[in-house]
Amino acid sequence: MPIDKERTINCYDTLAPFYSFFRKITHRYDNEVMPFVLNALETGGGEVVLDAGTGPGIYAIKIAERAKNTNIYGVDLSPKFLELAKRNANNAGLGGKINFIEADLEDLPFNDNRFDKLVCAGAMEAVPDKKRAAGELYRVLKHGGRAVIIEPNRGKSIRDKAYLLMLYSLGLINPRLRGFGAKDIPRYYFNQDDFYDLFKRAGFSAINIVERAGSFCAVCLK
Ligand SMILES: C[S@@+](CC[C@H](N)C(=O)[O-])C[C@H]1O[C@@H](n2cnc3c(N)ncnc32)[C@H](O)[C@@H]1O
Repeated sequence: MPIDKERTINCYDTLAPFYSFFRKITHRYDNEVMPFVLNALETGGGEVVLDAGTGPGIYAIKIAERAKNTNIYGVDLSPKFLELAKRNANNAGLGGKINFIEADLEDLPFNDNRFDKLVCAGAMEAVPDKKRAAGELYRVLKHGGRAVIIEPNRGKSIRDKAYLLMLYSLGLINPRLRGFGAKDIPRYYFNQDDFYDLFKRAGFSAINIVERAGSFCAVCLK
């Protein structure tokens, strides 16, 4: 496994136990972004949905609660985050109803055209080969399928400031460094143009980017 992937897994594994607390203190973000995601995805019954970089499974769980007979997959690189996601799903009474799988966004273990819908929130920033990951999201989505991809707009997002503070407190990032130290979570900030280009080049059409709670939310069709 490449060194940067191991580093990413170690960092996110360290972060996982603290992440629920962080989501509680930044609940204003969820209050604004979650309804946007659910409306944009328009999940109906009988669909297959992917939460890519699921972390604690917050989106997968909300989608499962809303569309009961939807087949949902949550993938993540971090075993600790996947444990947390399974625990959260159990606590929500959805134990065993969501398929949580350890997988890399750069190499998704799914056939082409598998999913009707997908969400990918806050994960692209950490993926080394973003072009490849965007291509994978495109590949696994059905023709006519819809993707919602979310990344913070640097300096605009209250949630991102809290996130940086948390990473810094845990020794997982050093904002004074231009690059990153050996233990740091690799992060990248998109601007609206390169965010758009990434999905355009992957093949998506009708890409619409709006800002919610200081994050770029791209709604893309295949
Ligand atoms: C900031 S968390 C966001 C989690 C969740 N989507 C949310 O919004 O609450 C980023 C997640 O992306 C995952 N991740 C980072 N790089 C990844 C990759 N290459 N493949 C799969 N997951 C990855 C991390 O392990 C982490 O769980």
